[in-house]
Amino acid sequence: MSVKETIKKRRAYRSLDSVEITRDLIEDLAEVARITPSCANKQPWRFVFVYDKNKLNELFTVLSEGNKWVKNASMIIGVFSEPENDCMVGERLYYLFDTGMATAFIILRATELGLVAHPIAGFKETLAKEILNIPKDLRLITLIVIGKHSEIINPVLSDSMKLGETQRPPRKSIDEFIYINKVN
Ligand SMILES: Cc1cc2nc3c(=O)[nH]c(=O)nc-3n(C[C@H](O)[C@H](O)[C@H](O)COP(=O)(O)O)c2cc1C
Repeated sequence: MSVKETIKKRRAYRSLDSVEITRDLIEDLAEVARITPSCANKQPWRFVFVYDKNKLNELFTVLSEGNKWVKNASMIIGVFSEPENDCMVGERLYYLFDTGMATAFIILRATELGLVAHPIAGFKETLAKEILNIPKDLRLITLIVIGKHSEIINPVLSDSMKLGETQRPPRKSIDEFIYINKVN
């Protein structure tokens, strides 16, 4: 599959079946993060791969109301870091940018492997950090929900989420976000 095909195949599906989680899978996903570019090669990203059922059940208690679908996850990857892990060029902090790139690579690799890798922001950060033993000073940026796409639409989804299972949510046209040579 080409990179473009993988990017097109990736979807934030919310109807999930379970998938076997192995050490090989975790290392495969970690490897694409390992070779992600970063400012001055600082490699600010940190990931906690959670697939122990008890730990997953604990995490399910800190999800926002709209994220009940996450309870079918086979693994959740906690993505965390702090500004000091990366370049700070004046007020420009690069830790979120570089960690985001590594996260995108993980999502694409998971997609290439036939998995769903769906990042979420809807969780209680402080409680999730306590569950995962992440030090207070670090930010838990996202949780990546891993599973296999199910054709059977998850009944807990809202109507708009159900629609999202069959159609990609609308995007801006290219003209709305690119400029040529200078901005307006
Ligand atoms: C940073 C981030 C946070 C997100 N948080 C949630 C979330 O809490 N719950 C959810 O169901 N989807 C969440 N999403 C998924 C987006 O809603 C989804 O990517 C968007 O609607 C576009 O759909 P597509 O990824 O299938 O193209 C999040 C995506 C990103 C990148």
